Amino acid sequence: MSDLVFPEGFKWGVATSSYQIEGAWQEDGKGLSIWDEFTHTPDHIYAGDNGDVACDSYHRLDEDIALLKELGVSCYRFSISWPRIFPTGRGEVNPAGLAYYTRLVDRLLENNIEPFCTIYHWDLPAALQAEGGFENRATIDAYTEYAETLFKHFDGKIKYWTTFNEPWCISFLSNYMGIQAPGKKDLQTALDVAHHVLVAHGKTVQLFRNGGYGGEIGYAPNVTWIEQYSECQEDVEAARRQNAWFIEWFMDPVFKGRYPENLLDWFAGKNARPPVLDGDMATIAQPIDFIGINYYSGNLGKYEAGRGLMDCANFDEGYKRTDFKWAIYPEGLHRALRYIQQSYGDIPIYITENGAHYDVPISADGKIRDYKRIDYYKYHLLQLHRLLADGLDLRGYIAWSFMDNLEWAEGYRIKFGLVHVDFNTLQRTKKESFYWYKKVIANNWLNLTGPENSFIEE
Ligand code: BGC
Repeated sequence: MSDLVFPEGFKWGVATSSYQIEGAWQEDGKGLSIWDEFTHTPDHIYAGDNGDVACDSYHRLDEDIALLKELGVSCYRFSISWPRIFPTGRGEVNPAGLAYYTRLVDRLLENNIEPFCTIYHWDLPAALQAEGGFENRATIDAYTEYAETLFKHFDGKIKYWTTFNEPWCISFLSNYMGIQAPGKKDLQTALDVAHHVLVAHGKTVQLFRNGGYGGEIGYAPNVTWIEQYSECQEDVEAARRQNAWFIEWFMDPVFKGRYPENLLDWFAGKNARPPVLDGDMATIAQPIDFIGINYYSGNLGKYEAGRGLMDCANFDEGYKRTDFKWAIYPEGLHRALRYIQQSYGDIPIYITENGAHYDVPISADGKIRDYKRIDYYKYHLLQLHRLLADGLDLRGYIAWSFMDNLEWAEGYRIKFGLVHVDFNTLQRTKKESFYWYKKVIANNWLNLTGPENSFIEE
C-alpha cells in the first residue's frame, strides 16, 4: 500500500480542555465550577479523583507549549474556563483569568501554533448552576456576555472558535443520565438544557458576525455511528433513532432550523418537549463556518424495548475495543461524515476529537510503547483520507488528547494522551504515539509501510 498524502494546508492538532488539565482550581480569583463541586462530592468520581491539580498546566504553560512545538502541531484546541473569566458567571471580569489565556494564546502565536478555542467545555460557573444552569433561559445571556468578552479581548489573535463542546454530553449525559456534572436524571431537564445551549450557540454566532470579528466559528457535537443489527424494521428504526439522538437532534436545528420529527414524537411519548419560544429556531439556524466532529466509537444497534432512552441495545461483540471498552469502528467515522454531508451539504469539517484510552506503563528503558493507540489513529486517518479523496471538505484533524488528564467521572486511570503524565510528580513523558504523530505532521502523510507498522493487528 502506498503512503497517504494529506492536502496542503491540512491542519494537524491536539486537544485538551481547561478542567481536565489546568488545576489551580482556586487561584487568581477563579470561581468554582460545577466540576469543582461535582468532583468534591463523594462517590461521583472514580477513586475520589478531582481536578484540583490535574496536569497543573496552569503553572506549566511553558513546558507544555514546548511540547506542542516539538510535536509540530499547526493548531492547539484548548478551552477557556468560564469561572476564571467571570467567577460567578457574569458581571465583573477577573483580569487574572483573562491574563492567563492571553499568555497562552500569545505563546502559541509566537510558536506558530494556531489557537483553536472552545468557549465552553463543561465547566459552568457553579453560581449559574445555582440558578438552574442551562435549564434556566437566563444562562443564555450570561453565556453570550462571556463569549463577547472573549471575542473582544482576543480579536485578531484567536481565529477559530467553537461555541460548545458536545452538546449531547452537556444535556443528556449530564442531566438525563446523571453521569456528569451537574448529575441530574430528568428527561425534560435534558431537553431544556439542550435547547438553551443551541439558542446560546445561535446568539453567539450572530454576535460574532455582527461584531465583525475576524475568524471562523462553529461548534463541536459528538457523533457516534450505529449500524442496524438486522434488516428487521424494529432494528432499522432503533438504529435510526440512536443516530438521530446524536446527529439530527443537534444538527437539524442548526442546519435546517427545526428538530427532527421522529425524535420530537419519541420524546413527546415520554412527556418531554424542547422549550421552543417564537424565533428560537431561526436564532439557532445561523450559518456557521465549520462543524467540529468528535468521534470515538460506533456500534451495531438492536431494538430492545426499555433499553436506554431509544430502545436500542448496543450489539458489538465482534468489535475490537480500546481499554475503555469502547468498540473500535473507524468505518463508522466514514459513514457518519458521509451522512452528515448528505444531510447538511458541503460544510467545512474539522475532526475536533478522536482518540483512544490505552493504559501502557513506562518500560524499563523509559519508553511507552502505546502501539495500539497508533493503530487506532491510523485506522481513523485512513477513513478520513478516503473521504478527502471523495471530495469531502475536511480541513483538519485534532487528536484527543495532547496529554493524559482527568477523564471526568472516570478519573485519572483513563489515559488518552500522546504525552504521559505522572500524577504524583506531574512529570511529562512522550509516548511512542507522540513520535509517530510528529512524523505524520512533519510529512503531512501517513506511512503505511515500514517497520513502524509491524505492530498492526498485534
Ligand atoms: C470529551 C473529552 C473527553 C473525551 C474522552 C469527549 O467526550 O470532549 O473531554 O475526555 O471525549 O472521553
